[in-house]
Amino acid sequence: MGYFDILIEKFAEDPELEKAFGQHIHWGYWEDPSQSKGTLLDFGIAANNLSQKVIQLSGINNGVSILDAGCGFGGTIGMLNNDFSQLNLVGVNIDEAQVIRAREIIKPKNDNYVEFVCANACDLPKFQQLFDYVIVLECIFSFPSRETFFQEVRKNLKIGGKLIVVDFIINDKIYYFWQKLEKEILNRLITNTYGTKATNKVKFISLEDYKNIGINTDFKLEKVIDITKNVQPTYSIINRLIIQSFNDWITATGLEYFSFFDLIKYEILVFN
Ligand SMILES: C[S@@+](CC[C@H](N)C(=O)[O-])C[C@H]1O[C@@H](n2cnc3c(N)ncnc32)[C@H](O)[C@@H]1O
Repeated sequence: MGYFDILIEKFAEDPELEKAFGQHIHWGYWEDPSQSKGTLLDFGIAANNLSQKVIQLSGINNGVSILDAGCGFGGTIGMLNNDFSQLNLVGVNIDEAQVIRAREIIKPKNDNYVEFVCANACDLPKFQQLFDYVIVLECIFSFPSRETFFQEVRKNLKIGGKLIVVDFIINDKIYYFWQKLEKEILNRLITNTYGTKATNKVKFISLEDYKNIGINTDFKLEKVIDITKNVQPTYSIINRLIIQSFNDWITATGLEYFSFFDLIKYEILVFN
């Protein structure tokens, strides 16, 4: 079973793990990657910093409405709830256990409205209002279809609203190779190692693919922020935890090296 499938059960045995992954299930961000301490505690801070970076880049202010699609334990919503007021915050996640935990740990404050909904991001429920921002942080690769998700967002976003995508992007240099191997081998290796609870299929695409999805769904790619180097220390920390078999080793170190050589990038994409 993949590492992230049994995360909640592991928290009870390992409080340090809960500090690292109790709020966010995403990579860490180090402004200066050479300063990474390589500890789980430092990783927890870096994971917070990634959400902070996304919030800053989005240009979110008090009083707006935000949908976090694939919200996990709601860590980003929790930070927004702490730092801003009069927000309308909705988190959607396909895994009920994560939604239950998010509801337990994040309580509305600062006159914010907070709601967590168990649903598929590609088949969003009817909301009472349109959103100013939709955030999809490190999860779109496991959604059934990026294009369907973009269409769903288009229906639920105000005119002038922004869609912020954080994703792994395949470099053109290995695009052909990746496409060839993804369906047969890489997909299975990745889901076996990291987890299959929410999906048994992952798909990584290029920036060009993203531009085309944007064109087909009436979105314009406004900004691309490459933070591959800033997330790189994540691999050595996470790999120590997840490598339990030869397959895990191949997958985890393979992704680490692809990232090190910029063959898989980690980017924040802002669409409007
Ligand atoms: C790597 S985690 C990221 C979680 C969260 N965005 C964060 O930054 O902490 C990926 C998340 O996507 C969720 N997910 C996967 N497929 C989904 C879908 N079709 N609809 C909604 N959530 C989904 C998973 O349950 C998981 O919580």
